Amino acid sequence: MQNTSHAVMAQRTEAKDSLDDFPTPPWATRALIEHVVGAGGLRQQICLEPACGAGHMAKVLAEYFGDVRCSDVHDYRYGAVKDFLKKPLAINSADWVITNPPFRLAEEFVLRSLPVARKGVAILARTVFLESVGRYDRLFQKHPPAKFAQFTERVPMVKGRLDRKASTATGYGWLVWEKGHSGQTQLVWIPQCRKALERGGDYELPAPPVAALKTVTAPTAGVRREARANKAQESLFGM
Ligand SMILES: C[S@@+](CC[C@H](N)C(=O)[O-])C[C@H]1O[C@@H](n2cnc3c(N)ncnc32)[C@H](O)[C@@H]1O
Repeated sequence: MQNTSHAVMAQRTEAKDSLDDFPTPPWATRALIEHVVGAGGLRQQICLEPACGAGHMAKVLAEYFGDVRCSDVHDYRYGAVKDFLKKPLAINSADWVITNPPFRLAEEFVLRSLPVARKGVAILARTVFLESVGRYDRLFQKHPPAKFAQFTERVPMVKGRLDRKASTATGYGWLVWEKGHSGQTQLVWIPQCRKALERGGDYELPAPPVAALKTVTAPTAGVRREARANKAQESLFGM
C-alpha cells in the first residue's frame, strides 16, 4: 500500500521559478546504463551532467564514464555553478549529455544538449513528458528519440533530498537520443531492478569530485576548429 505521506503525485506542480530539485535515486541512473545504453566503451568517454544538483546522478555516471563534468544553476557544493540554458556551449564537446532536468525546462535542455553530444543524450523524465502536441511538434517529430525506456518499478523522488522510504504515484522513464538514429522510437521496458542496483552509501550526500570544476564553457580555438570540422555532423540532428 502506498505511503501517501511521502507520495509525490503525478500532478505534482512546481512554481515557475522553482529549481525543481528532485534528486535521482542512484539505482535509477544505474538502470539507464545497465538496461538501456550498455556500459561498453564508456570508460573512454566524456559525460556532461548539466543539472547535477547535489551529485546523486553524477556520482553514478562516474562509475561508468572516464570523465564526468557537472554543473548546476544553483550552488549545491558539488559541480560548477552554470545556467545550462544560457552559458556558451561547445559543439560535440561531450560524448553524452545525461541528466534529470527540471520538468518545465526539459524540452529546452534536450534541444540544447543535442549539438553538444557526440554520441547521445539521455534524460530522466516523468512518463507524461511524452504527451503534448506542442512537445511533439517542437521536439519529438523533429528529433525522434532512439529509445523510450519505461521503468516498470516506480522511482520515488522527493524535493531536496533522497529518501529510501519514499513512494510515488508518478511514472518515470529514460528518453535516449542517439546520434545517427533515424526512424521510429523503440519502446524498452526497464525490468524490476532497484534491489539489484542499490549499493551501500547510495543515500548519503556525495562528496564533490576533484573534476567538479571541469565544465563545458566557451569554446577554445581548438574546439572551434573541431566544431567547424564537425559541422556536417550537426545536420544529423537538423540543428
Ligand atoms: C530534478 S533535479 C535533478 C538533480 C540531479 N540531476 C539528480 O538527478 O540528482 C533538477 C536540477 O536542475 C537544476 N536546474 C534548474 N534550472 C537549471 C538551469 N537553467 N541550468 C542548470 N541547472 C538547472 C536544479 O537546480 C536541480 O538541481
